[in-house]
Amino acid sequence: MRVNENILISSLTTMRLGGPARYVIEIERPEELPEAYGFAATYHLPTFVLGYGANTIGHDEGFPGAIIISRMKGIHETPTPDGIQLKVMSGEYWDDVVAYATSKGLTGIEGLSLIPGLAGAAPVQNIGAYGQEISDTLESIDVYDTATHSFTTLTASDLHFGYRQSILNTTESGRYFVISITLNLKHGQMPRPLYRSIEKYLSEHSITDFSPASIRDVVIAIRRSKLPDPLTEASAGSFFKNIFLDETATEACEAKGYPVHRTTDGGKLNSGWLIEQAGLAGQLIHGIRVSPKASLVLINESATSYTDLATARDEIISKVYDTYGFWLEQEPVELVAHLASPSASSAPSPSTSSSTPPTPPTGATK
Ligand code: EPU
Repeated sequence: MRVNENILISSLTTMRLGGPARYVIEIERPEELPEAYGFAATYHLPTFVLGYGANTIGHDEGFPGAIIISRMKGIHETPTPDGIQLKVMSGEYWDDVVAYATSKGLTGIEGLSLIPGLAGAAPVQNIGAYGQEISDTLESIDVYDTATHSFTTLTASDLHFGYRQSILNTTESGRYFVISITLNLKHGQMPRPLYRSIEKYLSEHSITDFSPASIRDVVIAIRRSKLPDPLTEASAGSFFKNIFLDETATEACEAKGYPVHRTTDGGKLNSGWLIEQAGLAGQLIHGIRVSPKASLVLINESATSYTDLATARDEIISKVYDTYGFWLEQEPVELVAHLASPSASSAPSPSTSSSTPPTPPTGATK
């Protein structure tokens, strides 16, 4: 476990905003988790689990507690009758996992190529792209439960997946630290027709190879052509969610000619289209650029504070609401506190604890 002090959140998140975090604790083995959370509980420090920081927005005042990050690596394979089950440690970079799976001819996550982030964060917001979501292939996750101070396994059905959500970012937000994710992947390829933009690319480039590795290459090419590379442009990917509509609202939107994609029980309205129609694509608002190529994406071009971003966000939401009557919802999470619950066995009683944390438990490195 490595404990670092006073680290700027702007250096840990791809939107590159946010003041100093008091502690950043890097976890290298699961056994270190009780110690890390015990330290936070003892000194009443709020905690926040961060991955690659690609979907998290830091606040200007920083974070007064402990940010905990997985550095645990490893991919373990178990053969199944029709494929391979992969158990991936949470600190692996997500796209390395997709590259590994597709190189073995495994289908199930090739559409999720080039999504920035760590493997452990993938189930939290149920990452999705090009017709796939991680919930389609996720079997279970191994976690540390900060409420019971124990290690446990949660199955996919325990996680109550939805569009960009699971219990990990809703009802149980902050409770579980993801140690590993287990995916059931199969030999084969994605069923056709594929997502519209993939089919278009395949026909324009006369590609007839639909293998996972080939579709990965196509997804990478499409993403590179429209989405910012977080290493060169500060962004958190899609900043707004698409809008789910019930049957009545879907029919009303269709009658007006709005771009709605049918789902099993209604439709999904393309929020990017609303932003474009409101005249905001490509605009620079308080240093935040609405991407001209993918209008759901906000790029931090010259914003110097969270306040700049929040002001730009609110202006976009208001303009779309005034024009179309739809309220856009922010997709990335904000880096705010979760108070660690004291362990019955390891945390001292309140009377013996101090509100001033001393030097962290294991020094700078261990
Ligand atoms: N659509 C379909 N089926 C299709 C084509 C499009 O349902 O065959 C729908 C989409 O679901 C969406 C709309 O049409 O409602 C527009 O789709 P587009 O591919 O242009 O993407 P988007 O809405 O701008 C979403 C994700 C992206 C993801 C792309 C590609 C969100 C908030 N964003 O963006 O995810 O890469 O689809 O699948 O859902 C991210 O979350 O950071 C992100 C970049």
